[in-house]
Amino acid sequence: MTMDQLKRQAAARALEHVSDGMKLGLGSGSTAKHFVELLGERIRAGLKVIGVPTSEATRADAERCGVPLTTLDDIERLDLTVDGADEIDPVLDVIKGGGGALLREKIVAAASDRMIVIADDSKWVKTLGRYPLPVEVIPFGLAATRHAMERAFAEGGVSGQMVVRKGAHGHAFVTDGGHWIVDAHLGQIPDAPRLAGLLSSIPGVVEHGLFIGLARIAVLAGTQGIRVVERP
Ligand code: A5P
Repeated sequence: MTMDQLKRQAAARALEHVSDGMKLGLGSGSTAKHFVELLGERIRAGLKVIGVPTSEATRADAERCGVPLTTLDDIERLDLTVDGADEIDPVLDVIKGGGGALLREKIVAAASDRMIVIADDSKWVKTLGRYPLPVEVIPFGLAATRHAMERAFAEGGVSGQMVVRKGAHGHAFVTDGGHWIVDAHLGQIPDAPRLAGLLSSIPGVVEHGLFIGLARIAVLAGTQGIRVVERP
């Protein structure tokens, strides 16, 4: 089975949590894209739901698949967000933002009663940090922000290289919110909640890819089958 088939299986299992009338957060990335496509199929078969996309890419996919959309200005709370992840640990803390959509993803997840992360099981780790941590930053004063991030890393007991993410043609990657991303290669993050708090207190940091306490369920698809893990 290919990685893509595993991602689709995880998306299909998460779809079982969707029912008529739900307001949904629609995640971003290659796994969440499967969810949007499968949701579109169910909608064509009569399911009535409405979604809030977490990126312009997901908005385009949802429109293509016929998923009715709204915004968090028009509705206050969502019933459920289904999104992918770059790493998931045993308490279901997660690293996200590999696709650069972490800010809208976190706003949508935080506005949801429940978040389900869907992934192939290669994303499951004992300790977060092998995947470079995306940190969305304001370009203004970037050097000062990076120094502040270094101090936060030292205080949080981690260290590693920081790289400004490049997009097309070698220019800095620009997020949907018009910001840049610094990827922090930390290797291991022994205390992710503490590091999350430290990063959040830096003025030039818009948001970071540590999703702490947001995911309630992880659906992990592997060659041996699907594993559903609930937050302890
Ligand atoms: C998008 O910014 C990310 O948070 C994605 O949800 C995450 O990178 C997982 O993406 P894949 O499903 O493509 O691995």
